[in-house]
Amino acid sequence: MTSSIITTLEEKRAAARLGGGSARIAKQHAQGKLTARERIAVLFDADSFEEWDMFVEHRCTDFGMGDMTFPGDGVVTGYGTIHGRPAFVFSQDFTVLGGSLSETHAAKIVKIMDQAMKSGIPIIGLNDSGGARIQEGVASLGGYAEVFQRNVDASGVVPQISVIMGPCAGGAVYSPAMTDFIFMVEGSSYMYVTGPDVVKTVTHEEVSHGDLGGAMTHTRKSGVAHKTYADDIAALMGVRALMSYLPQSAAQKPPELPAQDAINRQSPALDRIIPANPNQPYDMKHIISHIIDDDIFFEIHPDFASNIITGFARMGGQSVAIIANQPMVLAGCLDINAARKAARFVRFADAFNIPLVTLVDVPGFMPGTAQEYGGIINHGAKLLFAYAEASVPKVTLITRKAYGGAYDVMSSKHLRGDVNYAWPSAEIAVMGAEGAARIIFRADSKDADKLKQRSDEYRDKFANPFIAAKRGYIDDVIMPHNSRFRMIRALNMLRDKSVSQPPRKHNNLPL
Ligand code: HXC
Repeated sequence: MTSSIITTLEEKRAAARLGGGSARIAKQHAQGKLTARERIAVLFDADSFEEWDMFVEHRCTDFGMGDMTFPGDGVVTGYGTIHGRPAFVFSQDFTVLGGSLSETHAAKIVKIMDQAMKSGIPIIGLNDSGGARIQEGVASLGGYAEVFQRNVDASGVVPQISVIMGPCAGGAVYSPAMTDFIFMVEGSSYMYVTGPDVVKTVTHEEVSHGDLGGAMTHTRKSGVAHKTYADDIAALMGVRALMSYLPQSAAQKPPELPAQDAINRQSPALDRIIPANPNQPYDMKHIISHIIDDDIFFEIHPDFASNIITGFARMGGQSVAIIANQPMVLAGCLDINAARKAARFVRFADAFNIPLVTLVDVPGFMPGTAQEYGGIINHGAKLLFAYAEASVPKVTLITRKAYGGAYDVMSSKHLRGDVNYAWPSAEIAVMGAEGAARIIFRADSKDADKLKQRSDEYRDKFANPFIAAKRGYIDDVIMPHNSRFRMIRALNMLRDKSVSQPPRKHNNLPL
């Protein structure tokens, strides 16, 4: 090998590493953003990154592009390891033509996606791009569609995670939208289908980039994004944390860590957590923190539809997906957003072999015209459908209310819940006692004393777990302080659960 070819190689590598040049890198830093390569260095274990296609260049010659080539063409791709397990990444380089997506830029992304699917390895996308490379026209639109097709092909095969770390607009938003999780960076990222100028022209609304599609908007209002982080480093560390709960692909089980926290640790505080007054709220997150390992809960969608809690944790070392009604918010009612949020989470967990742990305190579905006109029937059905089709281990604990249709929906025995427990404080009924008495003893409902007596009668009969337990709808009534132990034992028993379905093309989830 001649020394000149080695020098050429080194020069080419140095040119690729410089991306769009030091001035643009300085601009990126001044905006509080890391470069594409710096992000990769934070995401992966030290020195684990293997870069592909560093020397790829676009072939466009229109609009002066023949003189404007950059090795790598605005996206860094390859694989590295996270906690020792491989993951593929593409990281768009805003310093190169605004990270815009050309035909070759897309081909680089498609190449790692295809390999990830063949190898059963997750795909992480770090998005920071001005969208379709305008000089390339339809060729770049074709490139986007090639990526979209891979997003769909990979869905449910390998985990796909998107981090939005800069602009993401127009049709470009649909690639992240089809991935499993979207994280955003506060202040520097935004996602929208059309920007503020188009909005103003069409609807006459004046809105800033941030208000239209910033991290707060998508994690609190639209629910498009799952988590927001203060800066690039925090977001990338968030991805590392999330990955620790996920398997490499649907063909594998999630990683199990030796449990540090004693499996039979008791929580006497749980015996006192349910207030005497059934209408008084309490914080379901306290229950979660008592039953999981080491009080480490990776919440998904913490700021959206907080009447239901979703997130990952470990129980006895096993990765679990927790879904829990939150009596502190809207009394824990299921509404449109809660149903959408939880349904997608349940489907993700089921696709990737993560057991479902459901904590129930639900007074029912949210009433009202806003909910009915918004299609609560359709959205509520998503959650019902998701639980019913899920074939992973399903362990359920009713802490207090399990009323009406919401009782059925929340991983009940009838939807093939594997192990269904209730605390002695559980109330499993068609509705609350007073509402029930008003309907079935209508004649007595005008007289307060009689109504109270009738309500008490109904409460005495149904405000306990024993009627359901008598029918086997509840496998056991357990003491709150023992919940962790009993649920972990159930999860251990269910480790090798398998369910077979008759063949079909695919189901028809009520979208
Ligand atoms: C080519 C682009 C580009 C693009 C930015 N650049 N976007 N080059 N195609 N889409 C270049 C700029 O010319 C500039 O080059 C450099 O990137 C940095 O851009 P700035 O404008 O200086 O950066 P900033 O002020 O931070 O503004 C960022 C921006 C803006 C808001 C993203 O660049 C912008 O509005 N870009 C166009 C966005 C857009 O309309 N894209 C097409 C959308 S349609 P120099 O050489 O000056 O540094 C689309 C459809 C996808 O994406 C459909 C999929 C189905």
